[in-house]
Amino acid sequence: MTTTKTKGKEGKVLRQSAINRFVHWATALSIFILILTGLGQMPLYNRYNVTKLPGAEWLGDYFITIGLHYLAAVLLIFITFYHLINAFIRKEFDIFPRRGDLKESYLIIKAMFTKGQEPPSHKYLAEQRLAYLFIGGNVLLLILTGLIKMYKNVPGVELSSSLLYWTTMLHNIGTVLLILGIVGHLAAFLIKENRALLPGMFTGYIDHDYVKHRHSLWYKDLQSQDKVQPQPDASLGLSSKNNTHIPAKSSSM
Ligand code: HEM
Ligand code: HEM
Repeated sequence: MTTTKTKGKEGKVLRQSAINRFVHWATALSIFILILTGLGQMPLYNRYNVTKLPGAEWLGDYFITIGLHYLAAVLLIFITFYHLINAFIRKEFDIFPRRGDLKESYLIIKAMFTKGQEPPSHKYLAEQRLAYLFIGGNVLLLILTGLIKMYKNVPGVELSSSLLYWTTMLHNIGTVLLILGIVGHLAAFLIKENRALLPGMFTGYIDHDYVKHRHSLWYKDLQSQDKVQPQPDASLGLSSKNNTHIPAKSSSM
């Protein structure tokens, strides 16, 4: 894990670097456009009279929706490669799935329902790493099948009917699974315990004490890399290395 040195913020820890936030929101934007325009090509909006809504006629125009689909596809492919190359260059693999993630996810969900103790977590909870695998896997499937579909549209190119059938099938299945993945991702923030992560994707920072308690293994890493700094405890007026109220100096990834 590499470091992004930043100015510390009292009581906060830098969780999402500018690069991560850029990757996340560029991915979300391109996927939103791809879903919107992809459904337009099916063509759902004409069929269900969505195009009769004010300002929505363009959703029924095949050439506009396919043009936007291609444009957003270029952005998604660029951002996917950028993210993967960046992760390997910086050796930032915190979000990549690990062995035992399924079992650990079960224990976290069980703890949530039984109000028991969660297993200690690294930067990401096991289910976040699985969510990343699920969403990322579908994105890769959609890129691969999308490229074949694009190639098929090149004048003079002839592909076998079974390849075309499976490509279309997988592009559509990937679309449905991705939509379900996004719904699940957003639904996760309905759970109170997860909501403290939201500011991280906007400002970069989240609450120091939340990190300490919910991501205790990551917190230990940050401490050992001297990325959280001892501070006077406001309630005691003391300064101690073992103080529980330690605002962030800076953090990684
Ligand atoms: C197309 C839409 C979106 C996609 C594909 C997407 C995908 C992802 C993925 C793969 C992750 C990492 C895994 C995880 O933490 O679950 C993530 C993290 C995150 N997403 Fe999204 N996201 C989307 C939209 C949104 C929206 C609309 C919000 C805010 C309301 C949001 C807030 C967050 C936050 C706060 C995190 C970081 C959680 C952390 O710090 O651990 N996402 N997103
Ligand atoms: C989030 C990612 C994506 C989603 C949700 C998505 C969704 C869709 C949907 C629903 C359709 C219409 C049904 C069909 O013709 O099979 C479609 C068509 C298509 N998509 Fe995607 N797609 C995505 C990414 C891509 C990418 C990355 C590319 C190109 C590299 C691509 C290229 C195409 C092409 C060429 C068509 C067919 C257009 C036609 O010939 O009528 N898609 N997509």
